[in-house]
Amino acid sequence: MTRSVFFLSLIFHLVTALAATESRSLRISTGQSEWILRIGNDGRLRHCYLGAPLTLAGPDIERLPPLGEIYPSAGGGDFFEPALFVTHADGNPGTVLTVESTSAKAISGGTETTVSLRDKVYPLSVTLHLQAYEKENVFKVWSEISHREKRPITLSRYASVLLPFRHEAYYLTQFSSDWAREVQITSQPLRAGKKILDSNLGSRAAMFMQPFFRLEFGSPATENTGNVLLGTLNWTGNFSFTFEIDNQGTLRLLPAINSYASNYTLAAGSTFTTPAFVFTLSDRGAGPASRNLHRWARRYGLCRGEDNRLTLLNNWENTYFNFNTEKLGRLMHEARELGVDLFLLDDGWFGNKYPRSNDRAGLGDWQATRAKLPGGLPALLDSARAAGVKFGLWIEPEMVNPASELFEKHRNWVILQPNREPYYYRNQLVLDLSNPQVQDFVFSTVENILKENPGIAYLKWDCNSPITNVYSPYLGGSRQGNLYIDYVRGLYSVVSRLRAAHPDVYLMLCSGGGGRCDYGALQYFTEFWCSDNTDPVERLYIQWGFSQLFPAKAMCAHVTDWNTRAPVKFRTDVAFMCKLGFDINFSRLKEAERTFCTAAVKTYNTLKPVILDGDLYRLVSPYGSNHMAVMYVAEGQKKAVLFGYDINPRYGEPLLPVRLEGLRPGARYRLDEVNLMPGSKSRFALNGQTVSGQYLMNAGVQLFTTGSMQSRVIVITEV
Ligand code: DGJ
Repeated sequence: MTRSVFFLSLIFHLVTALAATESRSLRISTGQSEWILRIGNDGRLRHCYLGAPLTLAGPDIERLPPLGEIYPSAGGGDFFEPALFVTHADGNPGTVLTVESTSAKAISGGTETTVSLRDKVYPLSVTLHLQAYEKENVFKVWSEISHREKRPITLSRYASVLLPFRHEAYYLTQFSSDWAREVQITSQPLRAGKKILDSNLGSRAAMFMQPFFRLEFGSPATENTGNVLLGTLNWTGNFSFTFEIDNQGTLRLLPAINSYASNYTLAAGSTFTTPAFVFTLSDRGAGPASRNLHRWARRYGLCRGEDNRLTLLNNWENTYFNFNTEKLGRLMHEARELGVDLFLLDDGWFGNKYPRSNDRAGLGDWQATRAKLPGGLPALLDSARAAGVKFGLWIEPEMVNPASELFEKHRNWVILQPNREPYYYRNQLVLDLSNPQVQDFVFSTVENILKENPGIAYLKWDCNSPITNVYSPYLGGSRQGNLYIDYVRGLYSVVSRLRAAHPDVYLMLCSGGGGRCDYGALQYFTEFWCSDNTDPVERLYIQWGFSQLFPAKAMCAHVTDWNTRAPVKFRTDVAFMCKLGFDINFSRLKEAERTFCTAAVKTYNTLKPVILDGDLYRLVSPYGSNHMAVMYVAEGQKKAVLFGYDINPRYGEPLLPVRLEGLRPGARYRLDEVNLMPGSKSRFALNGQTVSGQYLMNAGVQLFTTGSMQSRVIVITEV
């Protein structure tokens, strides 16, 4: 948006907000969607409308029937799940919030409306922040709860907002997960009562359920049809999405930090800030909703979202813990030969008294193992420099093994029940990040590694355990209810300090695969590891799932040996649709495969602007078909990349044409198949041909074959 258009739109918003204050309505608009709230004569703030703009409705706005408060509190007369439940210092569990003031201001890319609510009896206030991003059609909402009571109050519900909807039917699409089975997509109709998607795992919070969902109104949505809301909570801890259908058939959506075991003690004079609920709307199905969030993420949600990303060679699946300086040196040369930007050293490089030669020891002792790597990290950085690649390092700094010097010295830094036998998840325990001393330790551990080894360009930050043995020695007997929340805040404090000190370092978010994927963490992390499952067939489903919410730029995908029945080309083509990396024994590949991979990296580098920054169109879903197709279209619609995959087609299966999307009908495009194995010729019928966008989008192309685990990548260029 140009500056002048932006300021005109700001004036429009401010005027609308002002007019709204007089008419007691607040209109919050992205231009493509509008959200209308009304302040009642009783001072309560109620939701009236969320959907396509009502710009022509003018005076009719006042006719909109209010659907309910957007921040109902327990004790305020509402009989359903509240957004806020406060037990005041005197033990009174009731709160009534009325509007004190509203204001609007411009923010980068949109507007922010602020509504201050206050309890007339207790010195308690809630400020709602409602942001609207115009170009991306995204809303971001959070609240701040503060008080000046004489003693601490207890918060036992603290949602980010409540959104009510009234439609004839509601469908929920959710993304349940497990290790190596991330983002399994299922949909269901919602009925009267409650459905809750949540997590109470603490640190590896998204291991069983991802913190995002799609609501479909009226009828189930497809990629291109249906009325949908796609939403997520920016929180790297316990989350909960409650979908409650009340006696009137109104669906009440409550995105929140999960209050499980978290009655939060809030000291007088302090503020409890909820994470933001980020959502977008689409009346043309799931595809546009994803594209809205991808664009928003690249601009505002993802750390270094508009920057380049590095291709890499990781050693984890190749060596596991079994490596030494020489072996790593060889791998760095392989990285160079392959043509990737960076070599990433994974788990197993640290610990001396308790060397990390397996996953039972060493976490917490972040010094290179002298016996294994005598020259330490400096020598490895020298080898990387000599090989001509950048260097990246794996860490898991929130964790500790009982077999570690850290545990011996600082047992009271560990989340652990004082009077019971501990139980373990992957033989480790979680450090108590609610404790500022522990935050400082974690910060300085990583800071020292980066300061002493200034060449480190990339960190893979792992987190393999949920919070276990839940008890914080720091919070003691009276404030255990703060632990799950203060843990996440402690983590954010550490990573934001690191970000400020080392803005150029790329950070991969990893949690035993994709056990932590959210825009709360991704404001500090540049990308995330989708899954330890790198079987390319499984990855098609996993990447399809994560692409609902995240842009390709944020999703790390590596070519590995997990499924060697799949041709190297297929494995590479699957990783190619995200942020490409390798975790493979390159020297053991056949010469033709090595040549193929090297050429593929070069091709990828030329296509990065399209794949990483283009608009994603999901064309054919692997769910319920034997194929998958997606395409990315660069801004300006002059270049696109089309991906087609055959998973395990049936004999004689009829192959339907794939209709492309996002092109200009009147433009003519040349189609070129890339990523061909050396010596093989393209069998794609339109290879090298020039065709109109209209043809490609209406008649479609024969992209699929009846071969098993076959793939093709087609570059589409306007001529
Ligand atoms: C889990 C990660 O997902 C893997 O990629 C690897 O880094 C291991 N941890 C190392 O322990």
